[in-house]
Amino acid sequence: MSSVPVTYGEASITPRGDYAHCAADYTCAQHWERYTPQEHALFSRLYARQMALVPGRACDAFVRALPNLQAQGGIPLFEDINASLLPATGWEIVAVPGLIPEAAFFSLLSRRRFPVTVWLRRPEEFDYIVEPDLFHDLFGHVPLLFEPRFADSMQAFGAGGLKADGQHALQYLARLYWYTVEFGLLRTPQGLRIYGAGILSSGGEIEHSLYSPQARRLRFDLLRLLRSRYRIDSFQATYFIIDDFEQLFNATAPDFTPLYAQAAALPDIAPGVVLPGELDETLGVRGARV
Ligand SMILES: [Fe+2]
Repeated sequence: MSSVPVTYGEASITPRGDYAHCAADYTCAQHWERYTPQEHALFSRLYARQMALVPGRACDAFVRALPNLQAQGGIPLFEDINASLLPATGWEIVAVPGLIPEAAFFSLLSRRRFPVTVWLRRPEEFDYIVEPDLFHDLFGHVPLLFEPRFADSMQAFGAGGLKADGQHALQYLARLYWYTVEFGLLRTPQGLRIYGAGILSSGGEIEHSLYSPQARRLRFDLLRLLRSRYRIDSFQATYFIIDDFEQLFNATAPDFTPLYAQAAALPDIAPGVVLPGELDETLGVRGARV
Protein backbone atom coordinates (compact mmCIF):
# COMPACT_ATOMS: atom_id res chain seq x y z
CA MET A 1 0.00 0.00 0.00
CA SER A 2 1.11 3.51 -0.57
CA SER A 3 0.07 5.47 2.45
CA VAL A 4 -1.98 5.72 5.59
CA PRO A 5 -5.08 7.86 5.69
CA VAL A 6 -5.24 11.08 7.63
CA THR A 7 -7.59 9.71 10.25
CA TYR A 8 -4.88 8.23 12.41
CA GLY A 9 -2.77 9.99 14.95
CA GLU A 10 -0.73 7.02 16.09
CA ALA A 11 2.19 7.13 13.69
CA SER A 12 5.54 7.18 15.41
CA ILE A 13 7.04 9.51 12.82
CA THR A 14 6.83 13.27 13.08
CA PRO A 15 4.53 14.53 10.33
CA ARG A 16 6.24 16.37 7.54
CA GLY A 17 4.94 19.78 6.63
CA ASP A 18 4.86 23.35 7.83
CA TYR A 19 2.31 23.58 10.61
CA ALA A 20 3.48 27.01 11.73
CA HIS A 21 1.52 28.85 9.07
CA CYS A 22 -1.80 27.04 8.98
CA ALA A 23 -5.13 28.30 10.29
CA ALA A 24 -6.94 27.01 13.38
CA ASP A 25 -8.75 24.47 11.21
CA TYR A 26 -5.36 23.33 9.82
CA THR A 27 -5.99 24.67 6.33
CA CYS A 28 -3.21 26.61 4.65
CA ALA A 29 -2.27 28.15 1.33
CA GLN A 30 -1.26 25.75 -1.42
CA HIS A 31 1.55 28.06 -2.57
CA TRP A 32 1.49 26.49 -6.01
CA GLU A 33 4.20 28.88 -7.18
CA ARG A 34 6.67 27.19 -4.83
CA TYR A 35 6.59 23.77 -6.52
CA THR A 36 9.81 23.17 -8.39
CA PRO A 37 10.05 21.88 -11.97
CA GLN A 38 11.39 18.65 -10.50
CA GLU A 39 8.27 18.28 -8.33
CA HIS A 40 5.97 18.90 -11.29
CA ALA A 41 7.92 16.31 -13.26
CA LEU A 42 7.71 13.77 -10.44
CA PHE A 43 3.98 14.36 -10.14
CA SER A 44 3.62 13.84 -13.88
CA ARG A 45 5.49 10.55 -13.68
CA LEU A 46 3.28 9.35 -10.83
CA TYR A 47 0.20 10.46 -12.73
CA ALA A 48 1.28 8.72 -15.94
CA ARG A 49 1.97 5.45 -14.13
CA GLN A 50 -1.42 5.40 -12.43
CA MET A 51 -3.26 6.47 -15.60
CA ALA A 52 -1.86 3.39 -17.32
CA LEU A 53 -3.12 1.16 -14.50
CA VAL A 54 -6.65 2.40 -13.82
CA PRO A 55 -8.59 1.64 -17.04
CA GLY A 56 -10.70 -1.45 -16.49
CA ARG A 57 -9.63 -1.60 -12.84
CA ALA A 58 -10.90 1.61 -11.24
CA CYS A 59 -14.65 2.14 -11.07
CA ASP A 60 -16.23 4.12 -13.89
CA ALA A 61 -17.06 7.15 -11.75
CA PHE A 62 -13.40 7.52 -10.83
CA VAL A 63 -12.15 7.24 -14.41
CA ARG A 64 -14.85 9.61 -15.67
CA ALA A 65 -13.87 12.29 -13.16
CA LEU A 66 -10.11 12.16 -13.73
CA PRO A 67 -10.02 14.94 -16.34
CA ASN A 68 -11.40 17.28 -13.68
CA LEU A 69 -8.05 17.07 -11.88
CA GLN A 70 -6.45 18.98 -14.77
CA ALA A 71 -3.27 17.18 -13.86
CA GLN A 72 -1.78 16.40 -17.25
CA GLY A 73 0.72 19.24 -17.06
CA GLY A 74 1.99 18.72 -13.52
CA ILE A 75 0.69 19.62 -10.09
CA PRO A 76 -2.67 21.34 -10.52
CA LEU A 77 -3.85 24.47 -8.79
CA PHE A 78 -6.47 23.48 -6.22
CA GLU A 79 -8.61 26.49 -7.16
CA ASP A 80 -8.91 25.19 -10.71
CA ILE A 81 -10.25 21.85 -9.46
CA ASN A 82 -12.68 23.60 -7.13
CA ALA A 83 -14.09 25.58 -10.04
CA SER A 84 -15.63 22.34 -11.32
CA LEU A 85 -15.94 20.38 -8.05
CA LEU A 86 -18.00 22.95 -6.15
CA PRO A 87 -20.76 23.15 -8.78
CA ALA A 88 -20.71 19.35 -9.22
CA THR A 89 -21.29 18.19 -5.64
CA GLY A 90 -20.80 21.14 -3.30
CA TRP A 91 -17.39 19.86 -2.21
CA GLU A 92 -14.14 21.73 -2.33
CA ILE A 93 -10.60 20.72 -1.61
CA VAL A 94 -8.54 22.67 0.90
CA ALA A 95 -4.78 22.66 1.37
CA VAL A 96 -3.31 21.29 4.62
CA PRO A 97 0.32 20.91 5.76
CA GLY A 98 0.04 17.10 6.03
CA LEU A 99 -1.53 14.75 8.55
CA ILE A 100 -3.99 16.60 10.74
CA PRO A 101 -5.75 15.60 13.98
CA GLU A 102 -8.82 13.42 13.65
CA ALA A 103 -11.23 16.03 14.99
CA ALA A 104 -10.00 18.62 12.49
CA PHE A 105 -10.18 16.07 9.69
CA PHE A 106 -13.74 15.00 10.44
CA SER A 107 -14.82 18.59 10.98
CA LEU A 108 -13.62 19.50 7.48
CA LEU A 109 -15.38 16.48 5.96
CA SER A 110 -18.61 17.35 7.73
CA ARG A 111 -18.46 20.72 5.94
CA ARG A 112 -17.76 19.11 2.56
CA ARG A 113 -14.16 20.21 2.53
CA PHE A 114 -11.53 17.62 1.70
CA PRO A 115 -8.00 18.24 3.01
CA VAL A 116 -5.22 17.70 0.48
CA THR A 117 -1.59 17.65 1.61
CA VAL A 118 0.44 20.35 -0.13
CA TRP A 119 3.80 18.56 -0.26
CA LEU A 120 4.83 15.87 -2.70
CA ARG A 121 6.83 12.77 -1.88
CA ARG A 122 10.53 12.61 -2.68
CA PRO A 123 11.74 10.82 -5.85
CA GLU A 124 13.04 7.88 -3.81
CA GLU A 125 9.50 7.42 -2.46
CA PHE A 126 8.05 6.91 -5.93
CA ASP A 127 6.78 3.42 -5.10
CA TYR A 128 6.15 3.67 -1.40
CA ILE A 129 5.40 6.41 1.08
CA VAL A 130 4.25 6.08 4.67
CA GLU A 131 2.33 9.33 5.03
CA PRO A 132 -0.32 10.52 2.59
CA ASP A 133 1.18 13.11 0.27
CA LEU A 134 -0.27 15.39 -2.38
CA PHE A 135 -0.39 12.64 -4.98
CA HIS A 136 -2.25 10.18 -2.76
CA ASP A 137 -4.74 12.76 -1.55
CA LEU A 138 -5.37 14.31 -4.94
CA PHE A 139 -5.28 11.37 -7.32
CA GLY A 140 -6.72 8.83 -4.89
CA HIS A 141 -9.47 10.81 -3.21
CA VAL A 142 -10.57 13.79 -5.26
CA PRO A 143 -12.08 12.12 -8.37
CA LEU A 144 -14.83 10.39 -6.41
CA LEU A 145 -15.80 13.64 -4.72
CA PHE A 146 -17.41 14.33 -8.10
CA GLU A 147 -19.69 11.30 -7.59
CA PRO A 148 -22.79 12.59 -5.73
CA ARG A 149 -23.60 9.58 -3.54
CA PHE A 150 -19.98 8.91 -2.65
CA ALA A 151 -19.57 12.60 -1.85
CA ASP A 152 -22.54 12.38 0.51
CA SER A 153 -20.95 9.37 2.22
CA MET A 154 -17.77 11.34 2.82
CA GLN A 155 -19.74 14.07 4.56
CA ALA A 156 -21.46 11.37 6.63
CA PHE A 157 -18.04 10.08 7.67
CA GLY A 158 -17.26 13.56 8.91
CA ALA A 159 -20.45 13.79 10.91
CA GLY A 160 -19.90 10.28 12.28
CA GLY A 161 -16.36 11.14 13.26
CA LEU A 162 -17.44 14.17 15.22
CA LYS A 163 -19.90 11.99 17.13
CA ALA A 164 -17.50 9.08 17.65
CA ASP A 165 -15.96 10.26 20.87
CA GLY A 166 -16.28 7.06 22.90
CA GLN A 167 -13.20 5.05 23.80
CA HIS A 168 -13.39 2.60 20.92
CA ALA A 169 -15.65 4.51 18.58
CA LEU A 170 -12.91 6.25 16.62
CA GLN A 171 -11.10 2.96 16.17
CA TYR A 172 -14.23 1.44 14.67
CA LEU A 173 -14.93 4.41 12.46
CA ALA A 174 -11.31 4.29 11.32
CA ARG A 175 -11.80 0.67 10.27
CA LEU A 176 -14.87 1.57 8.27
CA TYR A 177 -13.01 4.42 6.59
CA TRP A 178 -10.04 2.18 5.92
CA TYR A 179 -11.94 -0.68 4.33
CA THR A 180 -14.14 1.58 2.20
CA VAL A 181 -12.72 5.02 1.38
CA GLU A 182 -9.12 3.80 1.35
CA PHE A 183 -9.35 0.14 0.26
CA GLY A 184 -12.86 -0.50 -1.01
CA LEU A 185 -13.92 -2.61 -3.98
CA LEU A 186 -17.12 -2.21 -5.98
CA ARG A 187 -19.17 -4.90 -7.70
CA THR A 188 -20.14 -4.00 -11.27
CA PRO A 189 -21.66 -5.95 -14.19
CA GLN A 190 -18.16 -5.96 -15.71
CA GLY A 191 -16.57 -7.45 -12.59
CA LEU A 192 -14.87 -6.04 -9.49
CA ARG A 193 -13.63 -2.48 -9.70
CA ILE A 194 -11.65 -0.34 -7.26
CA TYR A 195 -12.88 2.81 -5.57
CA GLY A 196 -10.49 2.94 -2.57
CA ALA A 197 -7.95 5.77 -2.69
CA GLY A 198 -5.19 3.78 -0.99
CA ILE A 199 -5.34 1.26 -3.80
CA LEU A 200 -5.83 3.69 -6.67
CA SER A 201 -2.82 5.81 -5.73
CA SER A 202 -0.57 2.76 -5.32
CA GLY A 203 1.64 1.29 -8.00
CA GLY A 204 1.34 -2.30 -6.84
CA GLU A 205 -1.90 -2.75 -4.95
CA ILE A 206 -4.20 -2.26 -7.93
CA GLU A 207 -3.27 -5.67 -9.31
CA HIS A 208 -3.06 -7.28 -5.88
CA SER A 209 -6.47 -6.08 -4.75
CA LEU A 210 -8.29 -7.41 -7.79
CA TYR A 211 -6.38 -10.52 -8.78
CA SER A 212 -4.11 -11.86 -6.04
CA PRO A 213 -5.16 -15.32 -4.81
CA GLN A 214 -3.59 -14.34 -1.48
CA ALA A 215 -6.23 -11.69 -0.79
CA ARG A 216 -9.67 -12.40 0.60
CA ARG A 217 -12.61 -10.53 -0.92
CA LEU A 218 -15.74 -10.41 1.16
CA ARG A 219 -19.18 -8.90 0.86
CA PHE A 220 -19.60 -5.62 2.72
CA ASP A 221 -21.13 -6.13 6.16
CA LEU A 222 -21.01 -3.18 8.51
CA LEU A 223 -20.64 -5.02 11.82
CA ARG A 224 -18.13 -7.47 10.32
CA LEU A 225 -16.10 -4.59 9.03
CA LEU A 226 -16.08 -2.72 12.33
CA ARG A 227 -14.54 -5.82 13.92
CA SER A 228 -11.83 -6.21 11.28
CA ARG A 229 -8.27 -5.20 12.03
CA TYR A 230 -6.12 -4.06 9.13
CA ARG A 231 -2.53 -3.84 8.01
CA ILE A 232 -0.79 -0.53 7.50
CA ASP A 233 2.60 -1.88 6.41
CA SER A 234 1.76 -4.15 3.48
CA PHE A 235 -0.91 -4.85 0.89
CA GLN A 236 -4.26 -5.66 2.47
CA ALA A 237 -5.13 -9.28 3.16
CA THR A 238 -8.88 -8.63 3.09
CA TYR A 239 -11.04 -6.37 0.94
CA PHE A 240 -14.74 -5.66 1.27
CA ILE A 241 -17.02 -5.29 -1.75
CA ILE A 242 -19.93 -2.88 -1.91
CA ASP A 243 -22.74 -3.26 -4.46
CA ASP A 244 -23.01 0.48 -5.12
CA PHE A 245 -22.36 3.84 -3.49
CA GLU A 246 -25.92 3.88 -2.19
CA GLN A 247 -24.97 0.94 0.02
CA LEU A 248 -21.99 2.86 1.35
CA PHE A 249 -24.12 5.90 2.03
CA ASN A 250 -26.76 3.80 3.78
CA ALA A 251 -24.06 2.32 6.00
CA THR A 252 -22.43 5.61 6.95
CA ALA A 253 -25.31 8.08 7.12
CA PRO A 254 -27.47 6.69 9.96
CA ASP A 255 -26.30 6.87 13.54
CA PHE A 256 -24.64 3.50 13.90
CA THR A 257 -23.29 4.28 17.35
CA PRO A 258 -25.18 1.28 18.81
CA LEU A 259 -23.12 -0.96 16.56
CA TYR A 260 -19.95 0.15 18.35
CA ALA A 261 -21.19 -1.59 21.49
CA GLN A 262 -22.04 -4.72 19.51
CA ALA A 263 -18.60 -4.71 17.90
CA ALA A 264 -16.90 -4.19 21.27
CA ALA A 265 -18.71 -7.22 22.68
CA LEU A 266 -17.35 -9.45 19.93
CA PRO A 267 -13.75 -10.45 19.23
CA ASP A 268 -11.73 -8.56 16.64
CA ILE A 269 -11.09 -10.37 13.36
CA ALA A 270 -7.57 -10.60 11.98
CA PRO A 271 -6.74 -9.62 8.39
CA GLY A 272 -7.12 -12.49 5.94
CA VAL A 273 -9.54 -14.49 8.06
CA VAL A 274 -12.74 -15.85 6.51
CA LEU A 275 -15.42 -16.64 9.06
CA PRO A 276 -17.59 -19.75 8.85
CA GLY A 277 -20.36 -19.18 6.33
CA GLU A 278 -18.78 -16.09 4.76
CA LEU A 279 -18.44 -16.11 0.99
CA ASP A 280 -14.84 -15.66 -0.10
CA GLU A 281 -15.22 -14.30 -3.60
CA THR A 282 -11.57 -15.00 -4.39
CA LEU A 283 -12.08 -18.72 -4.01
CA GLY A 284 -15.82 -18.70 -4.73
CA VAL A 285 -16.44 -20.76 -1.60
CA ARG A 286 -17.83 -20.19 1.84
CA GLY A 287 -15.65 -20.25 4.93
CA ALA A 288 -15.38 -23.65 6.53
CA ARG A 289 -17.26 -24.40 9.72
CA VAL A 290 -14.99 -24.64 12.71
FE1 LIG B 1 -6.16 8.62 2.05
